[in-house]
Amino acid sequence: MSAKAGDTLCVFINGKKVTEDHADPETMLLSFLRGKLRLTGTKSGCGGGGCGACTVMVSRYQPATKTIIHYSANACLLPLCQLHGAAVTTVEGIGSSKARIHPVQERIAKAHGSQCGFCTPGMVMSMYALLRNKPQPTMEDITQALAGNMCRCTGYRPIVDGCRTFCQEANCCQTNGGTKCCFNGEENNDEPENEKPQLFDKEEFLPLDPTQELIFPPELILMAETANPQTLTFLGERMTWVCPASLEELVQLKTRHPVAPLVMGNTNIGPDIKFKGIFHPLIISPIRVQELFEVSQTPQGVRVGAGCSLSEVRSVLEKLVPQLQEEKTELFRALIQQLGNLGNQQIRNVASLGGNIVSAYPNSDLNPVLAAGNCRVGVICSEGRREVPLNQDFFVGFGKTTLKPEEIVVSVFIPFTTKGEFVRAFRQAPRKEASFATVTTGMRVRFSEGSRVVQDVSIYYGGIGPTTVSATKTCKAVIGRPWDEETLNRAYDILLDELVIPPSAPGGKVEFRRSLTLSLLFKFNLEVLQKLREMNVVTDELPEKLLPLPRDIQPSLQEFQFVSKDQSDQDPVGRPMMHRSAIIHATGEAVYCDDIPKRDGELFLVLVTSSRPHAKITGLDVSDALQLPGVVDVVTAKDIPGKKAREMFGYSEELLAESEVACIGQMVCAVLADTKAHAKRGAAAVKITYEDLPDPIFTIEDAIEKSSFYEPKRVIERGNVTKAFENVDRIHEGGIRIGGQEHFYMETQSMLVVPVGEEMEFDVYISTQWPALIQDAVAETLNISANRVTCHVKRVGGAFGGKVIKTSILASITSVAAWKTNRAVRCVLERGEDMLITGGRHPVRATYKVGFMNDGRIVAADIEYYANAGCAVDESTLIAEKILLHMDNAYNIPNLRGRAASCRTNLPSNTAFRGFGVPQTLLVVENMLNDVALLLGRPAHQIQEINMYKGPSVTHYKFEFSPENMLRCWEECKLKCDYSARRRAIDQFNQQNRWKKRGMYIAPIKYGIAFSEGFLNQAAALVHIYKDGSVLVTHGGTEMGQGIHTKMQQVASRELHIPTSKIYISETSTNTVPNTCPSAASFGTDANGMAVKNACEILYKRLEPIRQKDPKGSWESWIGTAFFEKISLSATGYFRGPDLYMDWKKMEGEPYAYFTFGACCSEVELDCLTGDYRTVRTDLVMDLGRSVNPSVDIGQIEGAFTQGMGLYTLEELKFSPTGLLYTRGPSQYKIPAVCDMPLRFNVYLLPNSDNPHAIYSSKGIGEPVISLGSSVFFAIKDAAAAARSMSGLVGPFSLDSPATPEKACLACASPFTQKVPANKPGSFKPWALNI
Ligand SMILES: Cc1cc2nc3c(=O)[nH]c(=O)nc-3n(C[C@H](O)[C@H](O)[C@H](O)COP(=O)(O)OP(=O)(O)OC[C@H]3O[C@@H](n4cnc5c(N)ncnc54)[C@H](O)[C@@H]3O)c2cc1C
Ligand code: FES
Ligand code: FES
Repeated sequence: MSAKAGDTLCVFINGKKVTEDHADPETMLLSFLRGKLRLTGTKSGCGGGGCGACTVMVSRYQPATKTIIHYSANACLLPLCQLHGAAVTTVEGIGSSKARIHPVQERIAKAHGSQCGFCTPGMVMSMYALLRNKPQPTMEDITQALAGNMCRCTGYRPIVDGCRTFCQEANCCQTNGGTKCCFNGEENNDEPENEKPQLFDKEEFLPLDPTQELIFPPELILMAETANPQTLTFLGERMTWVCPASLEELVQLKTRHPVAPLVMGNTNIGPDIKFKGIFHPLIISPIRVQELFEVSQTPQGVRVGAGCSLSEVRSVLEKLVPQLQEEKTELFRALIQQLGNLGNQQIRNVASLGGNIVSAYPNSDLNPVLAAGNCRVGVICSEGRREVPLNQDFFVGFGKTTLKPEEIVVSVFIPFTTKGEFVRAFRQAPRKEASFATVTTGMRVRFSEGSRVVQDVSIYYGGIGPTTVSATKTCKAVIGRPWDEETLNRAYDILLDELVIPPSAPGGKVEFRRSLTLSLLFKFNLEVLQKLREMNVVTDELPEKLLPLPRDIQPSLQEFQFVSKDQSDQDPVGRPMMHRSAIIHATGEAVYCDDIPKRDGELFLVLVTSSRPHAKITGLDVSDALQLPGVVDVVTAKDIPGKKAREMFGYSEELLAESEVACIGQMVCAVLADTKAHAKRGAAAVKITYEDLPDPIFTIEDAIEKSSFYEPKRVIERGNVTKAFENVDRIHEGGIRIGGQEHFYMETQSMLVVPVGEEMEFDVYISTQWPALIQDAVAETLNISANRVTCHVKRVGGAFGGKVIKTSILASITSVAAWKTNRAVRCVLERGEDMLITGGRHPVRATYKVGFMNDGRIVAADIEYYANAGCAVDESTLIAEKILLHMDNAYNIPNLRGRAASCRTNLPSNTAFRGFGVPQTLLVVENMLNDVALLLGRPAHQIQEINMYKGPSVTHYKFEFSPENMLRCWEECKLKCDYSARRRAIDQFNQQNRWKKRGMYIAPIKYGIAFSEGFLNQAAALVHIYKDGSVLVTHGGTEMGQGIHTKMQQVASRELHIPTSKIYISETSTNTVPNTCPSAASFGTDANGMAVKNACEILYKRLEPIRQKDPKGSWESWIGTAFFEKISLSATGYFRGPDLYMDWKKMEGEPYAYFTFGACCSEVELDCLTGDYRTVRTDLVMDLGRSVNPSVDIGQIEGAFTQGMGLYTLEELKFSPTGLLYTRGPSQYKIPAVCDMPLRFNVYLLPNSDNPHAIYSSKGIGEPVISLGSSVFFAIKDAAAAARSMSGLVGPFSLDSPATPEKACLACASPFTQKVPANKPGSFKPWALNI
């Protein structure tokens, strides 16, 4: 290594040259952009390459080919030092609202693809990078480009629709909802587009003009062409980065420093450093070593440089395939397929081939295929070169190969296949895209010429042990035998013996993984038989050809009503209107909490959390932490000047644990330092000693056994349930579990507390749904009055119920730090911390007894619910109440009893989450009806219809309502989705397909709006009119993506008769509107809308004399006159909402203002061999009364549906047997991605509906639709039922939520799952708990 001082790093960012004399190898591009350059448009959502929020475009000049390449990449994993000589484009570099916005920014914004906007810059940049390479992309290109960008708000449909406008093929008659396509020769008789109201007008979009893009900096070309290649060295605080210029030098370096990693894409080393705390004092970056990037063809195959990115490898192979004889490219095509599904676009663009092989992940997608295909790696070290076969001997353990530490992989040789040789790759992953595989495989077979006798076979799997494994015994048993049923049956048996996964194996899913080894071999068999048939080697009748699941996203419909013809053109109410910040979301100019510039002397706070589930704290030693560079102080419970605990419902929750901890993840103290990196190091150095307390409680079963509950438990009953069971035809007992859910708001918990510097005044900038609660909490904690605390909320990057209670606790701790140090303190949780600390939706176990008649009438039901509340009460008892209030859903069950209890366990405390218990309870009642339908052998919809509320109705808590619109939604949904015809088509499909089944389900919802605690139904607003006529509106609602500010602008616009452009909303703050209620319960628009309306009415009335005097005057002239006439131009508005209540003693009440109704039908196609499924179509009809803003409301509907679909079919929290949350990031916890969108997703707003209880006859919509995601769950269950019937299994069966591929596959009870012996519960310690 050179002893000289470090080199100067040179990179171009948005066309500007940036040089760094002291580039720190530990700095990633993301923190450099956000911290150093103040380019905060690029967001941080996970820090590990899994969410896409940080996407930028990197451009590099390649001197060998004299070309410039552009690719998307995750800035969070891009070491700054790796970018020497590169050009980076961020969202700020492509357009801004001040100058010119880029067409991508415009189209995503105007197509309503942005709600909270936190994901939007990442989406924009992924799409932008695609367009730089392909100005007219296909839909497949678009979905691939966006596959790694997560959005928690929109459900993706509007984003895809905005991007679709760049795609020529999709701009045909189908766009915006046509149902038939001219491409297929079908006549399109649908209503012409311009006669239906549209959410956006694509005609007004700016054209894409590639000549307007930033050019690649000529200086970088010159640098690359003329540079005298020299070793570059960058010296950091703790780490040195060396970038050699030649292979020779690289070899020398590696010889001298064999343990120093070679960093290429940094997609393995980066996450290891960040999440596992691994430290490397020296890093070698070989990206300038030409030989690692060379590609050459030989008569036997192709040699690909180990440094080539996975995207480059794919494109090399894709170019070769059409040039070569088909038989030669079997392996190439299998690799292309695998490369298409590996990780996501941003990862593939930087991750290297050599890196993937050497990383030796147990579930690497490439290694099984490369090994099965007899590939070889070319390696070099100071002793010379050698070629190593990539086979079972190559992988020796978790992350380990036979290569010596000093050896460098230079290339990978990928051979051609020969005639009679077939290679296939299969993978099954928790999510179809952007997900590591559960099991992945490469399989190759070679037949003797013209025969079905196996000459050679190799089968490799990933995901079933610590390394890529070979099924050697199975292969041996197959070689020399004919490829037929007998041989294959033997092979399955041997495979099952050969590849055993211990019952406690890391990763769990043991039975599923074992069954996948068999079913993927069966898939290979089906493909091989097809091939043999094509070659006329076999003539027997073939089993069905297994086509992949459908994946083409089709245009969708969004139907809503035109406003009445009498409505003035100026009046925006009832019209689609883009989110007021959509453009600045898309340009990255929107300011989120962590985008606020650093204050002078600001400190960063990192929390230290408990590593024990239940223990006494015996010691807390912070001395080492305080010695570390940059660490300023540590805050403990002793430092809190005011209340040390938050009281809720008679229970108290300590802000910082003082003597005892009750879960892993409980906050114990907080380290303050000058930078986040220093604070993190400080936190890692804090030592806590514990004395474990016995028998921690984790599961609902544990809690029941030990009677560990929060009081009160609730009971509700109508009719006489016990007696009713005596007079029914049949009784059935069943149950279902529904797992929890992580909020996964894209912006993690973020806050900045600033001491103003006098009289104990504090400004709190925070991402919360309830500013007034934060104000109260901070005041209580600091023992000051509330008037000294001002809480500011500009916008929230998603919340979904998760930014209320826990946020107040975090704010309290941060305020103590700010008070103690008298400095501004910022706390922004990393994704892993956020997931660990803040809890989520309550997992629920329900058991039921249902009594029904043979004609399908349900006469009695007795349901018991247990929710896992965790170690603090939070809002759990309220959630349990809501579970009971919604236990009937759409059904009139005359004798109905519910009991609900919140279990106190040693897990992080769960909290509010969109729907507040309703998604759990809806699943239970629908499952109960579904069981009845299965028992009676009748379609579910018939049982639902028989039991639905009809005519004037009364709920089980004696609340009168009319279900008319619910029934209208149901009927309309059946009509729109063509229910009967599609049901017949599904039955036919299922008869024709053995291994794929379709299923369909229609679910209704009746959702109560407003807070059952009557006092929360109030709101206030403050409206100022300034002398220039501009209007500033402030109200109690926080803007978190739900579009409340946009709607409030619409309200003010209508009431003041001025365009929305004159109205501004700058923030929600406690010093403008005091004592606000949370933005929750789907009541934000109802309450705040009325308050804004009230304030505007007051003002408009005050102007009346002036308007009358000067009817022709302008708004501005009236305002000017009003000022001179001393008329106050400021008014508060107030809304006193309904006095709702629930009397649990009497079991009656009026807990809701009204109901929002809806119905949703989803159809899925399920691959019974792997459990993979695709939602092929969803039709959703919602009764929103008269929507204030159809684009915003449809956005809420689509987003909530998608979040619900995630809850019921995808998102799975996993806890270790000691109560540690395993799933602490997007790599382990999968939220729906673009690949999960229903292929056709139609939303209809019920026409001609009124609602006298809410503003302008609208209805609340934030939460109701989440429960309708269950239509996908039950569609999967329907498909599984069809699969089970093939094995002779009929009647009710158990399928818990989420219906992940694992559960769906096991429910199908295929011959392969049935072959796998179940491990006896109790005979082993499972890897994860079923909480
Ligand atoms: C979000 C995410 C999703 C992912 N999804 C998948 C997936 O679905 N399937 C899958 O298979 N993988 C997946 N990966 C893993 C990814 O493919 C690998 O991390 C990547 O291929 C490693 O390459 P790299 O260049 O980034 O390696 P780096 O992190 O730069 O290096 C990794 C290791 O390889 C060594 N190394 C690199 N190049 C050489 C060389 N030429 N010679 C010797 N040693 C070398 C380094 O010393 C280091 O130890 C995912 C990763 C992330 C972050
Ligand atoms: S922050 Fe980089 S991918 Fe999530
Ligand atoms: S708009 Fe995508 S995360 Fe909020």
